[in-house]
This record gives sequence, C-alpha cells and structure tokens, in this order.
Amino acid sequence: MDDPLRGALLLCAVYSGCTRQRFRSSTSHTALGAPVVELTAMLLAKLRHLMQPDAPCPSHRQAMGIGRPSGQDEVKADMIVRMQTISGDGAERSSTLGGDGAERSSTISGDGAERGSAGSGSIVVTGVAGQLGTQLRVRGGSRVRGLTSAQLDITDPVSVYEALGKLGPGDVVINCAAYTAVDNAESDRSTAAAVNAEGPGYLAEHTARTGASLIHISTDYVFPGSSSRPLEPGDPTGPDSVYGATKLAGEQAVRAGDPSATIVRTAWVYTGAANSADFVGTMRRLERERDTVSVVTDQVGSPTYSGDLADGLLELAGQVSGPDSVAAGQILHATNAGSCSWFDLAQAVFVEVGADPSRVLPTTSAEFPRPAPRPAYSVLSGRAWQVAELTPLRDWRAALTAAVHGGE
Ligand SMILES: NC(=O)c1ccc[n+]([C@@H]2O[C@H](COP(=O)([O-])OP(=O)(O)OC[C@H]3O[C@@H](n4cnc5c(N)ncnc54)[C@H](OP(=O)(O)O)[C@@H]3O)[C@@H](O)[C@H]2O)c1
Repeated sequence: MDDPLRGALLLCAVYSGCTRQRFRSSTSHTALGAPVVELTAMLLAKLRHLMQPDAPCPSHRQAMGIGRPSGQDEVKADMIVRMQTISGDGAERSSTLGGDGAERSSTISGDGAERGSAGSGSIVVTGVAGQLGTQLRVRGGSRVRGLTSAQLDITDPVSVYEALGKLGPGDVVINCAAYTAVDNAESDRSTAAAVNAEGPGYLAEHTARTGASLIHISTDYVFPGSSSRPLEPGDPTGPDSVYGATKLAGEQAVRAGDPSATIVRTAWVYTGAANSADFVGTMRRLERERDTVSVVTDQVGSPTYSGDLADGLLELAGQVSGPDSVAAGQILHATNAGSCSWFDLAQAVFVEVGADPSRVLPTTSAEFPRPAPRPAYSVLSGRAWQVAELTPLRDWRAALTAAVHGGE
C-alpha cells in the first residue's frame, strides 16, 4: 500500500469516530486495485464531511441527527499487524496478530474453515457471538462465515471493508451486530447510535457496492406500542426509547445505503438454555433460586425462539441470494406465531421445567419502572413473511417446549 493511501486511511480512521478506537494498519502490498480506490473515495468523503460538518455526509449520520461516538478524538495505540496471503484460487485469506502476540483468526465458520471468495454463496454473519448470531453459526454450518465484534467492528468503515473482504452477487451478509442493552442506551445514545444506526449504513454501502445481499435485523421497539392488532411492516413507527430510535435510524441507513437490502424485525428473542441470560433462561434460574417471582401482565408480544428465527433467516438468505427474490428490498416481520404477556411466558417456562406456575405472581409495569419504556403491545404480523414465500415460524408455545427440551 503506498504512503498517500496509508496516510488517507490513517486520517480517516482517526476521524471516523470508531467506538472502539481501533485502527488496523495493513502491511499487505497486494494489488487491491479498484476496490481500494472506492474505499479511499468513501473514506475521504467521510473525512471531508467530518472536518467540514456542512458537507454532504456519506454515512447518513447527519440525516439521522446522530452525534459522533464519545471519545472519538482519542487515538488508542491498538495497532494490529495484519498478514495477508493470496491463495491459489485467488481467495484472500488473512490472520491477525494483536499486540499481545495472540493470533486471531479472521473468520469463524461452521466447520472452522476460513472462506472469502466473492460470489461463492457464502453467508457472512456479523455479531456472531451474540444470541442470534450463535444460532445462525450452529444451524448454518459450513455455509456461515461468522465475524465477532473483535474481528469486525461495524462502526469502523475500514474494519467493514477489511473484514468482509471479497463479496459478490450470491453472497449474503446477515447483520446481527447491535447495541442491545435497552436501558443503558438511554444514557449512552452516541454508542447505541453508532452501532445500531451508523454501522448498518456502512454494511449497506458495502453490499450495494459489491452486489452481495444484506439482511439487517431490527426490532419491534421501532413501534410505539399503542396498537391493539398485530403490526404490519408498513404501519407507522414511533419508538419510545433510545434503543428503538437508533434501530429505526439503522433501518433508514440500510435502506439508503442498499435499497435491495431486506430488513427483518423480530421480537422477544430467547435461546432458553438453563444458563442463558435471556428471559426464559432467567426464569429458569429464578425458579431454582426463589419461591415466587413477579412478572408483568401488561406487556404483550410474541416470544421468539432464536433457533426458529435462525432457520427462517437461513431460508431467507437462500432466497435473497438468488435472482428475482420476492423479499429483496422489503421489510419483513419474523417471530414465532401467536402472542402472550411476559407473565404468561414465565408461567409457561415454569410448566416446562415441571414447576408450579402459581409461583409466578402477576404485577404491572408501573411497579417495575425501567430507564427505557417498553412497548405495551408489539405483536408483529407474519403476513409479509408469508407473502414473501417464506415458511411461517411455528406457534410460540410449541417453540418454547422445543427450546427448553433440547432445541429442535
Ligand atoms: N434479543 C432480543 O430480544 C431482540 C428482540 C428484537 C430484535 N433483536 C435484534 O436482533 C439482533 C440480534 O440480537 P441478539 O439478541 O443476538 O443480540 P446480542 O446477543 O446482544 O448480540 C449482539 C452482538 O453484536 C455485537 N456487537 C456489538 N457492537 C458491535 C460492533 N460495533 N461491531 C460488531 N459487533 C458488535 C456484540 O458483540 P460484543 O458482545 O462483543 O459487544 C454481540 O455479539 C439485533 O439486531 C437486535 O436488535 C433482538
């Protein structure tokens, strides 16, 4: 890489406001050609915008009213030496050495193998160590190339470019990376906005440029919670929380960056393992630790088993990677069918583990004030999912049984 380009990348990394203040310096001298020119142009446009705030913004930040992540002016000396090799088939493979000398694999695929050739039909999952990402990796097997937050920071356009590598038509990126600490977001808006809104915009710009397909995961929190019937994708949004507002801004950034991306809203996701920190896992733990547990009756939604959602997203990935996809460019809703309150769900968990459900006591949201308001009603209609010729997710009650007793 020549010095002017390295300088441009350094300046852009310094000013790009990465939440993790991470900058990777490439030592590769490979002929990257046109993609590097595109990346440099994108980064220089961003640099210009950041130094001249009135200039057009390439990353939608200004349009969404998003401030720069806190601490962006600090440049942390987290230099990573990157070693790249070009394999015989032209696929780029890479590994990284961190400052601690530990080798970090660039990708985690279902079978542990590295992949990266453009248009090979691969499914790249960002935020793969999270709840949904883990299920996609497990269920997608060798089709999935997973990237943890340490391997791809979606708030850093250099990281997006480097970690996603060569993509092309037929490849699919499923963005599971998100700032999901709903209450913390109320007091940490800039980080939530960077991860939930700005990062997805970078991913969308990358998939649009490469011809790959993007599936972006969003949430029922984009709705105000005042509905009394299942919500359709086109119903008016109106988030009541910072988390919901940043996720809605992320939808808009994705749509602006890649009009053919598919946005999938889901809700009340759980894995259900006995030691998991999700609602079902928490109820299982509290059942073991306490005589009674009080749970709210006045919030209604659709509990969604992450395994079922992952299966649905893999089916969707197969569709959007082909020509004439009905789902491309759409907003879809994907949850297990039916609905209940958190109280109903807690009682059902007790039943599943053989405990007395009367140990779950009813209460109201007013008794349990939280920093972020929760939607009172956020049942998502699955009609658009079916119109897109995708298999409906089963009823939430059957899914809960499966999740608690082994996952199938
Ligand atoms: N869980 C729910 O009930 C629910 C409901 C509706 C919608 N959703 C949506 O579903 C999607 C998946 O949620 P989930 O439950 O799997 O969340 P999760 O378990 O919190 O996982 C989120 C993942 O994103 C990663 N991440 C955070 N910041 C990142 C960054 N800057 N770059 C790359 N990765 C980053 C996290 O890595 P680190 O841990 O290393 O930071 C984590 O692995 C999200 O879009 C979420 O908004 C979830």
